[in-house]
Amino acid sequence: MHLLGVNIDHVATIREARKTYEPDPVWAAAEAQLGGADLITVHLREDRRHIHDRDLELLRQTVSVELNLEMSLAEQIVEIAQEVAPDMVTMVPESREEVTTEGGLDVVAHAERAQSVIERFHKQDIPVSLFVDPEDEQLKRSRELGADFVELHTGTYANASGPEERSRELERLVRAAEAGRELGLTVNAGHGLTYHNVGAIVQKVFPHELHIGHSIVARAVFVGLREAVRQMKDVIYRAEMLRLAREGPQ
Ligand code: PXP
Repeated sequence: MHLLGVNIDHVATIREARKTYEPDPVWAAAEAQLGGADLITVHLREDRRHIHDRDLELLRQTVSVELNLEMSLAEQIVEIAQEVAPDMVTMVPESREEVTTEGGLDVVAHAERAQSVIERFHKQDIPVSLFVDPEDEQLKRSRELGADFVELHTGTYANASGPEERSRELERLVRAAEAGRELGLTVNAGHGLTYHNVGAIVQKVFPHELHIGHSIVARAVFVGLREAVRQMKDVIYRAEMLRLAREGPQ
C-alpha cells in the first residue's frame, strides 16, 4: 500500500504568472483530496514564488488528509512552520536560481542546523522527513539526526538519458531504500515521477509515500485535477497488483 502525496505548488505557479487570485491552491487541495490524495504537499519558499503564507494558513484550516510542508532550514520559514504546525514537514535544499528543487538536502554538511530544527518539530510532535540523495552517508546521518522519514530523491532516475542509466539509478534507489529501512527509517520517494516512470519505483523501491507534483498538475490541464489524481492512484495501484501477481507479498 503506497500513499500518494500531491504537490500543488504548480497551481500557485499559474496564479503567480498573472499575480491574480486564480487558480486557487486551496481549491486544488480540495479537488486532489476528492481524487484520492493521501497527503497534500506545498513548499513555502523563501522568495514566495508560488505558495504564499495565506495559502498555507487556509490549507492548514481546510485540508482533511495530512498536510506536508516542504521547507528549507531558514529560520524565518522554520518559525512560520512551527506556528502553522502541519502534520509533517519535509526539509529540502533551496536556492533562488533553481527552477525546482535540485538534488537532496546535504544533511552531512547541514547536520548541526538540521538536528536543532528536527528537535524543535519533535517537541511539537511533528514528524520530520529529510529529502536526500540515495547515498549511504546521507541515510546514516539522517538517522543520527533523528529524522522519522527520508524521501529519496528520484530526479536522477527520472531524468536518466537512456535505459542503462535508468536501471543503474533504479538500483541505486533500491539499495538506498533497503539501507534506510535497515536503519529504521520510513522511506518515501519523490521528484520527477510521472505516470510512466512511477511503476518501477512502486515495484522495486516500495516507498511508503510517493510525492508527485508536476506530472499530475500537467495532466490536470486536460482531465481536471480530481481525475488526474485518480489516474495516478490507479497507475500506482496497478503496478503494485502486477508485482503481487508475479512475486507474491513483499
Ligand atoms: N518531493 C520534493 C521534496 C520536492 O521538492 C518536489 C518538488 O517540489 C517533489 C517531491 C515533487 O516533484 P515533481 O513536481 O517533479 O513531481
